[in-house]
Amino acid sequence: MGRKLLTEHINVEGIQTFDVYRKHGGYASVEKALKTMTPEEVVEEVKASGLRGRGGAGFPTGMKWSFLAKPEGKPRYLVCNADESEPGTFKDRYLMEHLPHLLIEGMITSSYALGCRTSYIYIRGELLYVLRILEKAIAEAYANGFLGENILGSGYSLDLHVHPGGGAYICGEETALLESLEGKRGNPRNKPPFPAVWGLYGSPTVVNNVESIATVPWIVTNTAAEYAKIGVGRSTGTKLISAGGNINKPGVYEIELGVPVEEFIYSDEYCGGIWKGRDMKAVIAGGSSVPILPKELILKTAAGEDRLMSYESLSDGGFATGTMLGSGGFFVMDDQTCIVRHTWTLARFYHHESCGQCSPCREGTGWMEKVLHRIEYGHGHMHDIDLLVSVAKQIEGNTICPLGDAAAWPVAAAIRHFRDEFEWHVKHPQAATAPGAVFNKA
Ligand code: NAI
Ligand code: SF4
Repeated sequence: MGRKLLTEHINVEGIQTFDVYRKHGGYASVEKALKTMTPEEVVEEVKASGLRGRGGAGFPTGMKWSFLAKPEGKPRYLVCNADESEPGTFKDRYLMEHLPHLLIEGMITSSYALGCRTSYIYIRGELLYVLRILEKAIAEAYANGFLGENILGSGYSLDLHVHPGGGAYICGEETALLESLEGKRGNPRNKPPFPAVWGLYGSPTVVNNVESIATVPWIVTNTAAEYAKIGVGRSTGTKLISAGGNINKPGVYEIELGVPVEEFIYSDEYCGGIWKGRDMKAVIAGGSSVPILPKELILKTAAGEDRLMSYESLSDGGFATGTMLGSGGFFVMDDQTCIVRHTWTLARFYHHESCGQCSPCREGTGWMEKVLHRIEYGHGHMHDIDLLVSVAKQIEGNTICPLGDAAAWPVAAAIRHFRDEFEWHVKHPQAATAPGAVFNKA
């Protein structure tokens, strides 16, 4: 059994309440940081831990914190990105639902480190019931002196607010989130300037994912040195993985980074193998935005070694042979899955969610959806396949925010690895559109 740093107490009855959470060591990091450490020491500790952002990009958290500008006379903000919307990803919801005080503890310790007096949790609008859980826990933290004025008599004060989004995927992009939090339409901003310099209301702001913030208490309480011992290489610590698709045991798993992908998929400790005893066709390892990989490439690296659940191993070989750990939305497809239909479904999603600010994304996602639709429904032409690759290429790298890339990569990767399946749809439209029809290589 791997170590559980975040979820060790998740099944304890009443752990959602302040008293039970406290009995199990909760808020120790706040006591330690506020009573014995300077803010700079907390930042250094998080830096030394090697923690990388758990929202998807994997940017080193401590480094992001150290970039935070400190101009005279301007407030600084910490904003927790709880707008988890990436298809296939549901680990932040799980964490907030079951361990709301862990996130609040992380917010207090992190806000202290960053010198923030007001912090926000921006939560996905569809998760109103989780917002209520958080609000209740925040009220308990205020009542017990962990939020508000002069926390634990330290002289440090913090107010924490939860704010619901309106249900747009794009508001998970950090600058769109800030616009939305300011009360405006959630349109992404150009970067740079990064939020660390120009964030909420034009003030320096750190935007961190729920899981990243929830990891800070363990690091501060148990030291960065202990944290860095867990994991593999530059992928330190543990990671929550939301596993779904055609597996026997879908759910959220806390893994030590470095577990072999094969073990994660087939062992009873995690996914428990492919359902109905079927074979595996493909995996999306890190949420819908990352490239899909066929079975042979998800299990082995380009060098033929076992692929590991880590930032480096999953991206080994670039997009030709690798993918990304991303948000940890691990989606397994069995041999009965139609890749063309799956790709069209994703394209439809990204087209719907594009904010429309930049033309490569606004127009390109629409074209990809249309072309995929006609291939899936038996009206495709052979040149449509290259047309899709061309549209994807023209979107990639030419947009304001990563949604454009996120829409382009899945299409490009599906064609790269499953071109024969697209060709079969074009060549055999009647067979391909028959109910339940699936391309069979054999
Ligand atoms: P990014 O790579 O642009 O930035 C990562 C973080 O580092 C940002 O907070 C950025 O402000 C900061 N940063 C980077 N360079 C900086 C610098 N020089 N100075 C200061 N700060 C700097 O990626 P982004 O847009 O934050 O995230 C994209 C990822 O999000 C995708 O790879 C995808 O996996 C993931 N994603 C996750 C979703 C979810 O529901 N969890 C939804 C959609 C996408
Ligand atoms: Fe909007 Fe798409 Fe441009 Fe992002 S890439 S700013 S979602 S149009």
